[in-house]
Amino acid sequence: MTNQDLLQVVQEYGSPVYVYNAEKIEAQYKRLTAAFKKVKQVKINYAVKALSNIAILQTMKNLGAGLDTVSIQEVRLGLAAGVKPENIIFTPNGVSLSEIERVAAMGVQINIDNLSILEQFGTKHPKTPVCIRINPHVMAGGNTNISVGHIDSKFGISIHQIPHILRIVENTGMKINGVHMHTGSDILDIEVFLYASEILFDTAKHFEDLEFIDFGSGFKVPYKEGDIETDIEEFGEKLGERFNAFAKAYKKPLTLAFEPGKFLVSEAGKFLASVNVVKQTTSTVFAQIDSGFNHLIRPMLYGSQHEIHNISNPDGKQRFYSVVGYICETDTFANNRRIAEISEEDILAFSNAGAYCFSMASNYNSRYRPAEVLWKNGESQLIRKRETFDDLVHNQIPLKELQSIEV
Ligand SMILES: Cc1ncc(COP(=O)(O)O)c(C=O)c1O
Repeated sequence: MTNQDLLQVVQEYGSPVYVYNAEKIEAQYKRLTAAFKKVKQVKINYAVKALSNIAILQTMKNLGAGLDTVSIQEVRLGLAAGVKPENIIFTPNGVSLSEIERVAAMGVQINIDNLSILEQFGTKHPKTPVCIRINPHVMAGGNTNISVGHIDSKFGISIHQIPHILRIVENTGMKINGVHMHTGSDILDIEVFLYASEILFDTAKHFEDLEFIDFGSGFKVPYKEGDIETDIEEFGEKLGERFNAFAKAYKKPLTLAFEPGKFLVSEAGKFLASVNVVKQTTSTVFAQIDSGFNHLIRPMLYGSQHEIHNISNPDGKQRFYSVVGYICETDTFANNRRIAEISEEDILAFSNAGAYCFSMASNYNSRYRPAEVLWKNGESQLIRKRETFDDLVHNQIPLKELQSIEV
C-alpha cells in the first residue's frame, strides 16, 4: 500500500480508519507454514482476539487456517465466516462450564486450563475429547501483562499437577486428544520457546490418545527497522526437527499446531488519523489527532511504540513531535518522535496496527469506533462501517419520562 493508496482510503472512508493489507497477511501465513515444511501435519489456528472482523476470518479460512477462540462469541464469528467447527479450537481462561458445554455442543475442539472444569466436564461428557492447557512455568513474553506461562500466572494447569490430571482422566474415562501451552506474546528468545516445548513433549508422553500438540504463539514481530523479531525460519527448523523425532517415538500421527495472532496480522494493519491541532508548548510540539486510546490503546496499555509517518508530507523536514489524542486524560502515542513536518489536517499513518488495535477499541468519551477497510488486489473494500450515534444509543433505555432519544 503506497502513501497515495492510504490517502485515497481516508478520502473515501473518512478518518480515523483502520486498513489491512490482505497480501501481507497471506505472506505471513505462507512464511510460517514454509518454516515448518519438514513437518507432515501442521495446523495454524489464527487467534481471533487479535483482529476479529469477519472478513479477516474469511481471509484466514481461504488461506487454510483454522481459528483459536476464547469466547463463545468468537466461535460464533468464526462459524459466521464459514469456518467449520472442527477447525476451531476454544482456548478460554476462567469461563463457566456452561459456556464450554455450549461450545462443545457446536462441535468445536475444547481446550481446558483448570482441574475443576476438567473434572466436571470429563464426568458429564466423557466421550468428548479435550485438549489440556498446561502451564510450563517458564518466564517468557515481552510486557508482564502478556507473560502468561510463569508460575504465578492464572493460565494453564501446572506441570506439577500432571498426576492429578491423570487421575481425573482415569476416573472419568475421558480422552485427552491434545496438549497445549501458550507462554506469552513477544517472546524474543527462541531458546526459551524451545525449552518450554521440551516441557510440553514431556507432558505429551503421559497421554496415549493425542492427535495434536499445540505450541500456542507469542512470535515477536518488528515494530521498527532493526527491531528484534522471532527468527521463524530457524525456529521452524529446530522445533520441526524435535517435533518429528517426538512424533516418531510416539508412533501415532500427530499434528503440530500453533495459534498466532500478532504474527499474522500486526504488520498488515495501518491506522490512519488526521491531525486536529498542532500545539506548541514550552517543552514540546504536540500533534493532536482525531483519535485517542479509545481507538488504539496499545501504547498506553503495553508501552508499544508504533511507527508514525506523516503521509501527507512524507518528504518534509524531520522535526520532533509528541503525538497525542483527544481523550480527556493522558493518551500519548509517541513522545519526542522524529516525524516529517506536521500541519493541521495532515494524515498520520501508524504501523503495526493490525493486532490488538481495533479489537481493543472502545467508545470511551462517547466516540464512534472507526471504519475498517481491507486492501486487496490494489483495491479497497469497506469491511466495517464507522459507527454512528445510533450505535451509541441503540442498547440504552432512557428513563420512562424521557422515552425518546433524539438522534
Ligand atoms: C492462548 C493464546 N493463544 C494465542 C495468542 C496469540 O498470541 P500472539 O498474538 O502473540 O500471537 C494469545 C494471546 O494472548 C493467547 O492468549
